[in-house]
Amino acid sequence: MAQIESPEPTHAGAPRRRILVAGASGYIGRHVVTELAARGHEVVGLVRTPLATPERSGTDGPSPTPELRRCDPADPVSLDRDGFRGEAFDAVVSCIASRTGGIRDAELVDHRCNSNLLAAADRTGAGRFVLLSAICVQHPMLAFQRAKLAFEAELERSGLPWSIVRPTAFFKSLAGQVPRIKAGKPFLIFGPGDGPACKPIAEADLAGFIADRVERRAPDNRILPVGGPGPAMTPRQRGELLFELAGRPAKFRRLPLAIFGAAEAIFGTAARWLPKLEDKAEFARIGRYYATEPMLVRNPETGEYDDGSTPEYGTRTLRDFYRRVLVDGLDGQALGDQALFRAVPPARADRTDRAD
Ligand SMILES: NC(=O)c1ccc[n+]([C@@H]2O[C@H](COP(=O)([O-])OP(=O)(O)OC[C@H]3O[C@@H](n4cnc5c(N)ncnc54)[C@H](OP(=O)(O)O)[C@@H]3O)[C@@H](O)[C@H]2O)c1
Repeated sequence: MAQIESPEPTHAGAPRRRILVAGASGYIGRHVVTELAARGHEVVGLVRTPLATPERSGTDGPSPTPELRRCDPADPVSLDRDGFRGEAFDAVVSCIASRTGGIRDAELVDHRCNSNLLAAADRTGAGRFVLLSAICVQHPMLAFQRAKLAFEAELERSGLPWSIVRPTAFFKSLAGQVPRIKAGKPFLIFGPGDGPACKPIAEADLAGFIADRVERRAPDNRILPVGGPGPAMTPRQRGELLFELAGRPAKFRRLPLAIFGAAEAIFGTAARWLPKLEDKAEFARIGRYYATEPMLVRNPETGEYDDGSTPEYGTRTLRDFYRRVLVDGLDGQALGDQALFRAVPPARADRTDRAD
Protein backbone atom coordinates (compact mmCIF):
# COMPACT_ATOMS: atom_id res chain seq x y z
CA MET A 1 0.00 0.00 0.00
CA ALA A 2 1.49 3.35 -1.00
CA GLN A 3 2.18 5.82 1.78
CA ILE A 4 2.73 9.53 1.44
CA GLU A 5 6.39 10.28 1.62
CA SER A 6 7.00 12.62 4.55
CA PRO A 7 10.73 12.94 5.12
CA GLU A 8 10.58 16.20 7.03
CA PRO A 9 8.83 16.90 10.30
CA THR A 10 5.81 19.10 9.71
CA HIS A 11 3.21 20.61 12.00
CA ALA A 12 4.97 20.51 15.40
CA GLY A 13 7.94 22.82 15.25
CA ALA A 14 7.26 24.14 11.73
CA PRO A 15 8.06 27.86 11.51
CA ARG A 16 5.11 30.24 11.49
CA ARG A 17 4.19 31.26 7.97
CA ARG A 18 1.97 33.81 6.24
CA ILE A 19 -0.40 32.06 3.91
CA LEU A 20 -3.04 33.29 1.52
CA VAL A 21 -5.94 30.88 0.92
CA ALA A 22 -8.15 31.55 -2.11
CA GLY A 23 -11.59 29.95 -2.04
CA ALA A 24 -11.68 30.35 1.75
CA SER A 25 -15.50 30.17 1.71
CA GLY A 26 -15.50 26.76 0.01
CA TYR A 27 -15.88 23.42 1.70
CA ILE A 28 -12.23 22.44 1.62
CA GLY A 29 -11.03 26.06 1.75
CA ARG A 30 -12.66 26.52 5.14
CA HIS A 31 -11.05 23.38 6.49
CA VAL A 32 -7.67 24.51 5.14
CA VAL A 33 -8.01 27.93 6.80
CA THR A 34 -9.03 26.28 10.07
CA GLU A 35 -6.16 23.79 9.95
CA LEU A 36 -3.49 26.36 9.12
CA ALA A 37 -4.72 28.72 11.84
CA ALA A 38 -4.83 25.86 14.35
CA ARG A 39 -1.19 25.14 13.46
CA GLY A 40 -0.34 28.72 14.39
CA HIS A 41 0.10 30.21 10.93
CA GLU A 42 -1.04 33.67 9.92
CA VAL A 43 -3.81 33.14 7.38
CA VAL A 44 -5.42 35.55 4.95
CA GLY A 45 -8.51 34.07 3.30
CA LEU A 46 -9.94 35.44 0.07
CA VAL A 47 -13.73 35.44 -0.26
CA ARG A 48 -15.99 37.04 -2.83
CA THR A 49 -19.02 37.73 -0.64
CA PRO A 50 -19.01 39.80 2.55
CA LEU A 51 -18.69 37.80 5.73
CA ALA A 52 -19.02 38.64 9.38
CA THR A 53 -15.79 38.56 11.36
CA PRO A 54 -14.79 34.95 11.83
CA GLU A 55 -14.87 33.55 15.32
CA ARG A 56 -11.66 32.56 17.02
CA SER A 57 -10.95 28.89 16.86
CA GLY A 58 -11.66 26.98 20.05
CA THR A 59 -8.09 25.78 20.33
CA ASP A 60 -5.91 27.02 23.19
CA GLY A 61 -2.67 28.78 22.52
CA PRO A 62 -1.51 31.06 19.74
CA SER A 63 -4.08 30.30 17.07
CA PRO A 64 -4.38 33.59 15.21
CA THR A 65 -7.76 34.60 13.83
CA PRO A 66 -7.65 34.45 10.04
CA GLU A 67 -8.13 37.70 8.20
CA LEU A 68 -10.74 37.65 5.45
CA ARG A 69 -10.35 39.86 2.41
CA ARG A 70 -13.11 40.32 -0.10
CA CYS A 71 -12.02 40.23 -3.70
CA ASP A 72 -12.90 38.83 -7.10
CA PRO A 73 -10.28 36.38 -8.45
CA ALA A 74 -11.79 36.77 -11.92
CA ASP A 75 -10.57 40.38 -11.90
CA PRO A 76 -6.77 40.82 -11.74
CA VAL A 77 -7.15 44.40 -10.51
CA SER A 78 -9.33 43.33 -7.58
CA LEU A 79 -6.94 40.49 -6.78
CA ASP A 80 -3.97 42.88 -6.55
CA ARG A 81 -5.79 45.76 -4.84
CA ASP A 82 -8.12 43.91 -2.45
CA GLY A 83 -6.55 40.45 -2.18
CA PHE A 84 -2.75 40.53 -2.24
CA ARG A 85 -2.38 44.28 -1.50
CA GLY A 86 1.23 44.07 -2.66
CA GLU A 87 2.15 41.65 0.14
CA ALA A 88 4.39 38.63 -0.36
CA PHE A 89 3.10 35.41 1.19
CA ASP A 90 5.14 32.34 2.07
CA ALA A 91 2.52 30.27 0.29
CA VAL A 92 -0.61 30.76 -1.77
CA VAL A 93 -3.14 27.93 -1.57
CA SER A 94 -5.92 27.75 -4.14
CA CYS A 95 -9.11 25.94 -3.17
CA ILE A 96 -11.24 27.74 -5.73
CA ALA A 97 -13.32 25.61 -8.05
CA SER A 98 -16.38 25.89 -10.22
CA ARG A 99 -19.42 25.20 -8.05
CA THR A 100 -21.36 23.68 -10.95
CA GLY A 101 -18.89 22.09 -13.37
CA GLY A 102 -20.68 23.97 -16.17
CA ILE A 103 -18.60 24.47 -19.30
CA ARG A 104 -18.06 28.24 -19.16
CA ASP A 105 -17.96 28.39 -15.38
CA ALA A 106 -15.24 25.72 -15.24
CA GLU A 107 -13.10 27.63 -17.72
CA LEU A 108 -13.63 30.87 -15.79
CA VAL A 109 -12.98 29.50 -12.30
CA ASP A 110 -10.81 26.37 -12.56
CA HIS A 111 -8.61 27.90 -15.24
CA ARG A 112 -8.83 31.70 -15.52
CA CYS A 113 -9.27 32.61 -11.83
CA ASN A 114 -6.39 30.31 -10.95
CA SER A 115 -4.23 31.87 -13.68
CA ASN A 116 -4.98 35.31 -12.24
CA LEU A 117 -4.10 34.06 -8.78
CA LEU A 118 -0.83 32.59 -10.01
CA ALA A 119 0.12 35.81 -11.80
CA ALA A 120 -0.59 37.83 -8.63
CA ALA A 121 1.40 35.33 -6.53
CA ASP A 122 4.29 35.65 -8.97
CA ARG A 123 4.17 39.47 -9.05
CA THR A 124 4.27 39.68 -5.26
CA GLY A 125 7.02 37.06 -4.80
CA ALA A 126 5.04 34.26 -3.15
CA GLY A 127 7.18 31.42 -1.83
CA ARG A 128 5.12 28.58 -3.28
CA PHE A 129 1.74 27.76 -4.80
CA VAL A 130 -0.37 24.85 -3.63
CA LEU A 131 -3.29 23.84 -5.84
CA LEU A 132 -6.27 21.74 -4.81
CA SER A 133 -7.12 19.77 -7.94
CA ALA A 134 -8.87 16.39 -8.34
CA ILE A 135 -7.76 12.83 -9.06
CA CYS A 136 -10.28 12.54 -11.89
CA VAL A 137 -8.18 14.79 -14.13
CA GLN A 138 -6.03 11.72 -14.84
CA HIS A 139 -8.63 10.63 -17.37
CA PRO A 140 -10.14 13.88 -18.63
CA MET A 141 -13.48 13.73 -20.39
CA LEU A 142 -15.22 16.75 -18.88
CA ALA A 143 -14.91 20.52 -19.26
CA PHE A 144 -13.91 21.15 -15.65
CA GLN A 145 -11.20 18.47 -15.86
CA ARG A 146 -9.73 20.07 -18.99
CA ALA A 147 -9.84 23.49 -17.31
CA LYS A 148 -8.03 22.13 -14.25
CA LEU A 149 -5.41 20.43 -16.43
CA ALA A 150 -4.80 23.62 -18.40
CA PHE A 151 -4.06 25.43 -15.16
CA GLU A 152 -1.97 22.58 -13.75
CA ALA A 153 0.25 22.86 -16.84
CA GLU A 154 0.59 26.64 -16.33
CA LEU A 155 1.54 26.14 -12.72
CA GLU A 156 4.19 23.54 -13.55
CA ARG A 157 5.71 25.93 -16.11
CA SER A 158 5.49 29.00 -13.90
CA GLY A 159 8.85 28.78 -12.15
CA LEU A 160 7.15 29.13 -8.73
CA PRO A 161 7.64 26.16 -6.38
CA TRP A 162 4.42 24.16 -6.53
CA SER A 163 2.32 21.28 -5.23
CA ILE A 164 -0.70 19.88 -7.05
CA VAL A 165 -2.96 17.94 -4.69
CA ARG A 166 -5.30 15.51 -6.43
CA PRO A 167 -7.64 13.99 -3.85
CA THR A 168 -10.08 11.13 -4.32
CA ALA A 169 -13.70 11.58 -3.21
CA PHE A 170 -14.54 13.63 -0.13
CA PHE A 171 -16.72 12.06 2.57
CA LYS A 172 -19.47 14.63 2.08
CA SER A 173 -19.74 13.68 -1.60
CA LEU A 174 -20.50 10.10 -0.57
CA ALA A 175 -23.28 11.05 1.83
CA GLY A 176 -25.97 11.88 -0.73
CA GLN A 177 -27.86 8.63 -0.10
CA VAL A 178 -27.87 8.82 3.71
CA PRO A 179 -31.37 10.39 3.83
CA ARG A 180 -32.66 7.60 1.52
CA ILE A 181 -31.31 4.90 3.82
CA LYS A 182 -32.75 6.65 6.88
CA ALA A 183 -36.10 6.76 5.10
CA GLY A 184 -35.97 2.98 4.51
CA LYS A 185 -35.33 3.29 0.76
CA PRO A 186 -32.90 1.16 -1.24
CA PHE A 187 -29.36 2.31 -2.05
CA LEU A 188 -29.05 3.23 -5.73
CA ILE A 189 -26.28 1.80 -7.91
CA PHE A 190 -25.78 2.88 -11.51
CA GLY A 191 -24.89 0.37 -14.19
CA PRO A 192 -23.72 -3.24 -13.90
CA GLY A 193 -21.44 -4.58 -11.16
CA ASP A 194 -20.65 -2.96 -7.83
CA GLY A 195 -19.77 0.45 -9.27
CA PRO A 196 -16.43 2.30 -9.39
CA ALA A 197 -14.24 2.26 -6.29
CA CYS A 198 -12.72 5.21 -4.47
CA LYS A 199 -10.64 5.72 -1.37
CA PRO A 200 -12.54 8.48 0.39
CA ILE A 201 -10.76 11.13 2.41
CA ALA A 202 -12.13 13.27 5.24
CA GLU A 203 -12.11 16.99 4.57
CA ALA A 204 -10.14 17.66 7.76
CA ASP A 205 -7.52 15.07 6.76
CA LEU A 206 -7.25 16.62 3.30
CA ALA A 207 -6.77 20.01 4.94
CA GLY A 208 -3.98 18.48 7.03
CA PHE A 209 -2.35 17.10 3.90
CA ILE A 210 -2.52 20.53 2.23
CA ALA A 211 -1.13 22.23 5.36
CA ASP A 212 1.80 19.77 5.23
CA ARG A 213 2.55 20.97 1.67
CA VAL A 214 2.84 24.51 3.03
CA GLU A 215 5.03 23.54 5.97
CA ARG A 216 7.53 21.33 4.18
CA ARG A 217 10.91 22.99 3.97
CA ALA A 218 11.46 21.84 0.37
CA PRO A 219 8.53 22.33 -1.99
CA ASP A 220 7.06 19.23 -3.60
CA ASN A 221 7.18 20.34 -7.24
CA ARG A 222 5.06 17.33 -8.05
CA ILE A 223 1.56 16.00 -8.43
CA LEU A 224 0.24 14.31 -5.31
CA PRO A 225 -2.74 11.98 -5.61
CA VAL A 226 -4.20 11.29 -2.16
CA GLY A 227 -6.93 9.20 -0.58
CA GLY A 228 -7.99 8.41 2.96
CA PRO A 229 -6.99 5.42 5.11
CA GLY A 230 -8.15 1.88 4.39
CA PRO A 231 -9.02 -0.07 1.28
CA ALA A 232 -10.93 1.36 -1.68
CA MET A 233 -14.70 0.97 -1.52
CA THR A 234 -17.25 0.47 -4.27
CA PRO A 235 -20.74 2.01 -4.10
CA ARG A 236 -22.13 -1.41 -3.15
CA GLN A 237 -19.68 -1.65 -0.23
CA ARG A 238 -20.61 1.86 0.88
CA GLY A 239 -24.28 0.91 0.71
CA GLU A 240 -23.65 -2.25 2.75
CA LEU A 241 -21.79 -0.17 5.33
CA LEU A 242 -24.67 2.29 5.60
CA PHE A 243 -27.24 -0.49 6.06
CA GLU A 244 -25.06 -2.22 8.64
CA LEU A 245 -24.72 1.01 10.64
CA ALA A 246 -28.44 1.73 10.30
CA GLY A 247 -29.21 -1.81 11.56
CA ARG A 248 -31.27 -2.70 8.49
CA PRO A 249 -31.00 -5.42 5.86
CA ALA A 250 -29.25 -4.14 2.74
CA LYS A 251 -31.50 -3.23 -0.22
CA PHE A 252 -30.20 -2.05 -3.57
CA ARG A 253 -31.83 -0.73 -6.71
CA ARG A 254 -29.93 -0.74 -9.96
CA LEU A 255 -30.39 2.11 -12.43
CA PRO A 256 -29.23 1.89 -16.04
CA LEU A 257 -26.37 4.07 -17.24
CA ALA A 258 -28.55 4.79 -20.25
CA ILE A 259 -30.29 7.44 -18.09
CA PHE A 260 -27.20 9.61 -18.48
CA GLY A 261 -26.79 8.79 -22.17
CA ALA A 262 -30.42 9.74 -22.86
CA ALA A 263 -30.15 13.04 -20.96
CA GLU A 264 -26.88 13.84 -22.73
CA ALA A 265 -28.40 13.12 -26.15
CA ILE A 266 -31.59 15.15 -25.50
CA PHE A 267 -29.84 18.19 -24.04
CA GLY A 268 -26.91 17.93 -26.47
CA THR A 269 -29.30 18.07 -29.41
CA ALA A 270 -31.45 20.83 -27.90
CA ALA A 271 -28.32 22.89 -27.16
CA ARG A 272 -27.80 23.36 -30.91
CA TRP A 273 -30.77 25.73 -30.82
CA LEU A 274 -30.66 26.76 -27.17
CA PRO A 275 -26.97 27.02 -26.23
CA LYS A 276 -27.71 27.49 -22.54
CA LEU A 277 -28.78 23.83 -22.43
CA GLU A 278 -25.24 22.70 -23.17
CA ASP A 279 -24.49 22.70 -19.45
CA LYS A 280 -27.36 20.26 -18.88
CA ALA A 281 -25.71 17.86 -21.33
CA GLU A 282 -22.42 18.41 -19.50
CA PHE A 283 -24.06 17.59 -16.15
CA ALA A 284 -25.29 14.29 -17.65
CA ARG A 285 -21.72 13.57 -18.78
CA ILE A 286 -20.49 14.37 -15.25
CA GLY A 287 -23.08 11.98 -13.81
CA ARG A 288 -22.04 9.19 -16.16
CA TYR A 289 -18.36 9.79 -15.47
CA TYR A 290 -18.79 9.40 -11.72
CA ALA A 291 -21.03 6.39 -12.15
CA THR A 292 -18.35 4.60 -14.16
CA GLU A 293 -14.83 5.88 -13.39
CA PRO A 294 -12.99 4.82 -10.23
CA MET A 295 -11.32 7.56 -8.14
CA LEU A 296 -7.98 5.80 -7.76
CA VAL A 297 -4.55 6.21 -9.30
CA ARG A 298 -4.74 5.16 -12.95
CA ASN A 299 -1.99 3.50 -14.92
CA PRO A 300 -1.84 5.64 -18.09
CA GLU A 301 -0.48 2.73 -20.17
CA THR A 302 -3.02 0.09 -19.22
CA GLY A 303 -5.89 2.36 -18.18
CA GLU A 304 -6.25 0.22 -15.02
CA TYR A 305 -7.11 1.88 -11.71
CA ASP A 306 -5.21 0.61 -8.68
CA ASP A 307 -6.08 0.80 -5.01
CA GLY A 308 -2.54 -0.20 -3.95
CA SER A 309 -0.89 2.70 -5.80
CA THR A 310 -3.29 5.28 -4.37
CA PRO A 311 -1.53 6.98 -1.45
CA GLU A 312 -3.29 7.09 1.90
CA TYR A 313 -3.30 9.95 4.37
CA GLY A 314 -5.10 10.69 7.62
CA THR A 315 -6.95 8.76 10.28
CA ARG A 316 -10.63 9.54 9.82
CA THR A 317 -12.76 6.74 8.41
CA LEU A 318 -15.90 6.71 6.30
CA ARG A 319 -17.43 4.32 8.87
CA ASP A 320 -17.16 6.95 11.61
CA PHE A 321 -18.43 9.67 9.28
CA TYR A 322 -21.46 7.60 8.22
CA ARG A 323 -22.17 6.66 11.84
CA ARG A 324 -22.20 10.34 12.74
CA VAL A 325 -24.35 11.59 9.86
CA LEU A 326 -26.85 8.73 10.31
CA VAL A 327 -27.47 10.08 13.82
CA ASP A 328 -26.89 13.81 13.45
CA GLY A 329 -27.81 14.32 9.78
CA LEU A 330 -25.82 16.38 7.33
CA ASP A 331 -26.70 19.80 8.74
CA GLY A 332 -23.66 21.80 9.73
CA GLN A 333 -21.36 19.06 8.47
CA ALA A 334 -19.94 21.50 5.91
CA LEU A 335 -18.46 23.57 8.70
CA GLY A 336 -16.36 20.79 10.14
CA ASP A 337 -15.55 20.26 13.78
CA GLN A 338 -13.84 23.53 14.57
CA ALA A 339 -15.74 25.92 12.36
CA LEU A 340 -14.16 29.33 12.22
CA PHE A 341 -16.61 30.65 9.71
CA ARG A 342 -20.01 30.36 11.27
CA ALA A 343 -21.04 33.45 9.34
CA VAL A 344 -20.36 31.84 5.98
CA PRO A 345 -23.49 30.50 4.33
CA PRO A 346 -23.22 26.77 3.63
CA ALA A 347 -22.22 25.73 0.12
CA ARG A 348 -25.09 26.29 -2.27
CA ALA A 349 -27.39 23.35 -2.69
CA ASP A 350 -27.56 23.78 -6.46
CA ARG A 351 -24.06 22.52 -7.13
CA THR A 352 -23.43 19.37 -9.08
CA ASP A 353 -22.37 16.62 -6.70
CA ARG A 354 -19.27 15.49 -8.48
CA ALA A 355 -18.32 12.38 -6.62
CA ASP A 356 -21.31 10.20 -5.86
N1 LIG B 1 -16.30 16.61 -4.11
C1 LIG B 1 -15.33 15.70 -4.16
O1 LIG B 1 -15.49 14.56 -3.71
C2 LIG B 1 -14.01 16.07 -4.75
C3 LIG B 1 -13.05 15.07 -4.85
C4 LIG B 1 -11.78 15.42 -5.34
C5 LIG B 1 -11.52 16.72 -5.70
N2 LIG B 1 -12.49 17.66 -5.60
C6 LIG B 1 -12.12 19.02 -5.99
O2 LIG B 1 -11.99 19.84 -4.80
C7 LIG B 1 -12.13 21.20 -5.19
C8 LIG B 1 -12.87 22.05 -4.14
O3 LIG B 1 -14.02 21.43 -3.69
P1 LIG B 1 -14.96 22.12 -2.62
O4 LIG B 1 -16.02 21.10 -2.31
O5 LIG B 1 -14.19 22.73 -1.51
O6 LIG B 1 -15.57 23.30 -3.51
P2 LIG B 1 -16.68 24.38 -3.10
O7 LIG B 1 -17.20 24.16 -1.72
O8 LIG B 1 -17.65 24.41 -4.21
O9 LIG B 1 -15.86 25.75 -3.07
C9 LIG B 1 -15.49 26.41 -4.25
C10 LIG B 1 -14.75 27.68 -3.89
O10 LIG B 1 -14.44 28.36 -5.11
C11 LIG B 1 -15.03 29.66 -5.08
N3 LIG B 1 -15.58 30.06 -6.39
C12 LIG B 1 -16.49 29.41 -7.13
N4 LIG B 1 -16.79 30.12 -8.24
C13 LIG B 1 -16.04 31.25 -8.16
C14 LIG B 1 -15.91 32.38 -9.01
N5 LIG B 1 -16.62 32.53 -10.14
N6 LIG B 1 -15.06 33.35 -8.63
C15 LIG B 1 -14.36 33.23 -7.47
N7 LIG B 1 -14.43 32.19 -6.63
C16 LIG B 1 -15.27 31.21 -6.98
C17 LIG B 1 -16.19 29.55 -4.10
O11 LIG B 1 -16.54 30.86 -3.65
P3 LIG B 1 -18.08 31.19 -3.23
O12 LIG B 1 -18.26 30.61 -1.85
O13 LIG B 1 -18.11 32.67 -3.24
O14 LIG B 1 -18.97 30.55 -4.25
C18 LIG B 1 -15.60 28.64 -3.05
O15 LIG B 1 -14.77 29.37 -2.18
C19 LIG B 1 -12.73 21.17 -6.57
O16 LIG B 1 -11.67 21.48 -7.46
C20 LIG B 1 -13.13 19.74 -6.80
O17 LIG B 1 -13.03 19.37 -8.17
C21 LIG B 1 -13.72 17.37 -5.13
